[in-house]
Amino acid sequence: MAEASVDLPAEILLSKRVQEMVLDKKEPPAPYKCRDDADSEDDDPISMSPIPLIDLGCLLLSTSEVPAQEIVEVLEKINAALSSWGCFQAIGHGISNLLLDKVRQISREFFAQPMEEKKKYAKTVVDFEGYGADPVPEEGQSLDWSDRLFLNVQPEDQRNYKFWPMTPESFRDVLLEYTDEMKRVTELISRAMAKSLNLDENCFLKQFGERSQLQARFNYYSPCKRPDLVLGLKPHSDGSGYTIIMQDEVGLQVLKDDKWYKIPKNPHALLVLMADQMEIMTNGIFKSPVHRVLSNSERDRISVAVFYTPEVGKEIGPEDGLVNERTPKLFKMVKDYADTHFGYYQRGMRALHTAQA
Ligand code: OGA
Ligand code: NI
Repeated sequence: MAEASVDLPAEILLSKRVQEMVLDKKEPPAPYKCRDDADSEDDDPISMSPIPLIDLGCLLLSTSEVPAQEIVEVLEKINAALSSWGCFQAIGHGISNLLLDKVRQISREFFAQPMEEKKKYAKTVVDFEGYGADPVPEEGQSLDWSDRLFLNVQPEDQRNYKFWPMTPESFRDVLLEYTDEMKRVTELISRAMAKSLNLDENCFLKQFGERSQLQARFNYYSPCKRPDLVLGLKPHSDGSGYTIIMQDEVGLQVLKDDKWYKIPKNPHALLVLMADQMEIMTNGIFKSPVHRVLSNSERDRISVAVFYTPEVGKEIGPEDGLVNERTPKLFKMVKDYADTHFGYYQRGMRALHTAQA
């Protein structure tokens, strides 16, 4: 990981949360300005979004209850979506609307609290966990117009409850319930992805390991007067295995064939987004797409991203069943790739080339 800079201006700047700058009615300071492509934005209506939408409902039932053909069709859709887009919006995932609404509600309530309250959970500039922004970036990097609360949720012994908000009162219980659902949904999706590639259904779960990690990142995107200059989150791919995102407003975009596509608003859908480690494990078949979040001049936005990552210290690599004479190994075995990824992310770069065979 990149070493923390002791550069004073950066320290001062980062000690200020984006939400405070909004309250102060200040113009965005220079490090937040990182956009120069606003003119080229294609404002196609959200209803036209081609992001695949897949109903996972039939995968929740036992195979005797569903016609085999129906399952085959869903697996084909998953394979097609992840090979071309690297993501899909999932419905029929089995998480109740009520719980999804509660997760959005506790996120909104947490960020709406006075700064003194939120700062009880403040992270230090070099840490990941807690309330704040990314660890101190290096010179000349752009900053994101957003504030975050980042928490390790799985394995249980990796939780640092001092960062888990006491208010709103239901925060912990709702997050625990959501964590259980994320465990269930990541198992379901990991098996479905394996089957869609004609692999042993447990192969990815084995690579993620018994102590696979789940980390929740609650993102709060304040309105910004200059959405033409400032991004809520800079373009990046994720360093996890894959990521599951819920949002309450539009703003997230995925890059495909040099064009940005909006993820439509759909309050009870979850975005399943491949990250670099799934691209490695599928030997490049599933794509880890670059994505970013626009800022908005009027509306704020909440999202909760759950990163699903192989266990610490575990080597992962391309599945043997996907490597043959016609499709040679594209990646080598790697471990703790998320750390390597982060060092590059800080500089606005991708890290996948470090895993090339
Ligand atoms: C992330 C991310 C998207 C969003 O946290 O890595 O891409 O909609 N979030 O907040
Ligand atoms: Ni991301």
